[in-house]
Amino acid sequence: MSVDMDAFIREMPKAELHVHVEGTLEPDMRLQLAERNGIELPYQTADELAASYEYTDLSSFLALYFSGMDVLHTEQDFFDLTYAYLQRARAQNVVYTEMHFDPQAHTSRGIAFDAVIQGIRRAQETAQTELGIRSQLILGILRDESIESAMQTLEQSLPYKDWIVGVGLDSDEKGNPPLKFRNVFERARTEGYKLTMHCDHLQENSVEHIRQCLDTIGVDRIDHGYHVLDDEVLIEAVRQRQICLTFCTTSTPSNPAPRRAIGLKAALELGLNVTVNTDDPAYMRSYYMSDVLLNTQQAAGLTREQVAQLARNAFRSAWIGDDEREGYLAAVDGYMASAG
Ligand code: ADE
Ligand code: ZN
Repeated sequence: MSVDMDAFIREMPKAELHVHVEGTLEPDMRLQLAERNGIELPYQTADELAASYEYTDLSSFLALYFSGMDVLHTEQDFFDLTYAYLQRARAQNVVYTEMHFDPQAHTSRGIAFDAVIQGIRRAQETAQTELGIRSQLILGILRDESIESAMQTLEQSLPYKDWIVGVGLDSDEKGNPPLKFRNVFERARTEGYKLTMHCDHLQENSVEHIRQCLDTIGVDRIDHGYHVLDDEVLIEAVRQRQICLTFCTTSTPSNPAPRRAIGLKAALELGLNVTVNTDDPAYMRSYYMSDVLLNTQQAAGLTREQVAQLARNAFRSAWIGDDEREGYLAAVDGYMASAG
């Protein structure tokens, strides 16, 4: 019954491994921050802004995503952005989340790296104390920027190493394969960071990009990674190594939900370590974790056990210590026992 499934999904303790904090900038906050920082936006209401979020592919999405960030200036802005996301996530029973942030998108506008990370960090600490949601940060490298800019950003992050768990690769994939950043990611590994990279849906050479991630870069995880399913060798490689794939199954114009959701079900049934995530919820119908999981469950006809498997996969792939992991997995087991 769908009502039961709705409550079952909403109340389950969940983790999120793929969300961009800048992609959680909801239209109402964008308007507030524009006013606070004296910035003119071409729209007056949150509804008008939301209606303007139309895109057909990754590059038209990215144009919206980056222009939305223009209202983020001060440490307080980054605090407000992050705290609002953590509140919304916690309200959907996300108890643990790993958030990408994109420093180059701010430092290139003259915003100090320090202001960005201090604001985010203060929000993480406040949310952990006040809301009971734990979070960690992933440094996103913009793959359509230069290798030098990537290395400089990695170096800027080093004084804050204790606040950052991993390094990711995002933005426009076209012409920017994983191998472009081989040296940067080698250095990141040496510095003790975990590694992940986006291999998005319908990108050219996606199978080759995934192969580079696995064979040359040695990633710990792949963000998206749907095209693993196109290649028997890749399926076997990620299955054997249980590399986590962070699928984002919100329906968008260029990626209708059924297609990704059905891929997700196939991946689960092949024994792959796949998870469900929100990516950029403010630009994707404001669907947060429970909303996306429920839609995915409906689109693919997932069983309760498959939904629970998705939650377990996220906790078992989180970049945390074993004790913390055991605690979360026990909470899912307890939840399943009580949910009947
Ligand atoms: N930046 C924010 N979301 C992204 C995505 N899904 N792919 C690439 N870059 C992104
Ligand atoms: Zn992403």
